[in-house]
Amino acid sequence: MPMITVPLGERTYPIHIGSGLLDCLGAHVLEALGEISVAVVTDDNVAPLYLERAMKSLEAAGLRACSIVLPHGEQTKCLEQLANLYGFLCEHRITRKDAVIALGGGVIGDLTGLAAATFLRGVRFIQVPTTLLAQVDSSVGGKVAVDLPQGKNLVGAFYQPEFVLVDPDTLNTLTDEFWRDGLGEVVKYGCIGDAELFALLETCAPGGRAALMARIDEILLHCIQAKADVVAQDERDTGLRMTLNFGHTIAHAVETCQHYTGLRHGEAVALGMHVMTRLTEAKGMTEPGTADRLDALLSRLDMPMQLPQIPETELIAAMGMDKKAAGKTLRVIGIRRIGECYIHPTDTAFFTGMTEN
Ligand SMILES: NC(=O)c1ccc[n+]([C@@H]2O[C@H](COP(=O)([O-])OP(=O)(O)OC[C@H]3O[C@@H](n4cnc5c(N)ncnc54)[C@H](O)[C@@H]3O)[C@@H](O)[C@H]2O)c1
Ligand SMILES: [Zn+2]
Repeated sequence: MPMITVPLGERTYPIHIGSGLLDCLGAHVLEALGEISVAVVTDDNVAPLYLERAMKSLEAAGLRACSIVLPHGEQTKCLEQLANLYGFLCEHRITRKDAVIALGGGVIGDLTGLAAATFLRGVRFIQVPTTLLAQVDSSVGGKVAVDLPQGKNLVGAFYQPEFVLVDPDTLNTLTDEFWRDGLGEVVKYGCIGDAELFALLETCAPGGRAALMARIDEILLHCIQAKADVVAQDERDTGLRMTLNFGHTIAHAVETCQHYTGLRHGEAVALGMHVMTRLTEAKGMTEPGTADRLDALLSRLDMPMQLPQIPETELIAAMGMDKKAAGKTLRVIGIRRIGECYIHPTDTAFFTGMTEN
């Protein structure tokens, strides 16, 4: 089974990737942490699909396991559900040597991770991501959080798991909407640092989701390695991690203007990468032909390529509110060519004319 190691300061943790790994969850917990108690947190879409297998595997390894099923969706990433989890962990007498397992997408991962980071000043944490987005992005890097009514991810922590277990088979049950959502970030990794991944996606894309799933282990390895490399060099998000925001300045502006009810995040990122690369190519900051190549892949993957009907001034105003707009300087990420990115300090005027492409 392929394994990626994330080296962080004094501690290193593994990410295991492989078909059918869900059934080995118990064995992995036992090997890594010994005979502890575990609390599994999941949502009501994932539970009927995978909870029983996870619990069976934990029990087969002789571990005491309990579980809680929360409602699915972003609304669950909130303080009320965090408090609910604390109550559940108390009730099942989870101690600091025990572990909390997030079985689900990024919502469950972020919420459970924050609970693990704070309950008893920190209990052990294990991620079993089941969406493409969670497997390539949210489960790697240690950022955990909940939303406030005032905004997304406003209360959180950096908290690394003991290990991450990625079973690509779980992706078979994802809806097309959430599959596409994850693909936006997958293409991003190819653009910013991995031309080989980009070429692999170009090879598979004409065959649709089935062709991509046929090479999913390779695709996941590329993406997770890319994120792990960046995180290892910039655990606290003070520099290099910024490159992971390629496409995100525009994406966040669109998401804000649509009040998070329009495009899904990954689709907004795809659109952001498209608009950004058209802009930088027109400004001579990207090798000619790059935008065409990116657009060809994005359209093969059914990604949106058209900015929604939002006035440019509104989009640009929303960028100024982006938390990454430190002071008046806006650091945008562009690509020189497929597989090579740069950080460009500028201001929002950079985006004037973006809706004309
Ligand atoms: N921590 C980070 O670094 C980081 C990075 C990116 C995104 N995020 C966060 O991740 C969240 C989005 O993650 P997401 O897209 O995984 O959302 P999600 O957890 O809401 O999952 C998407 C949907 O798919 C369902 N689902 C999950 N696994 C399934 C499976 N195998 N089969 C069928 N259905 C399944 C879920 O119930 C949900 O309805 C956001 O809250 C975002 O802020 C965090
Ligand atoms: Zn993103």
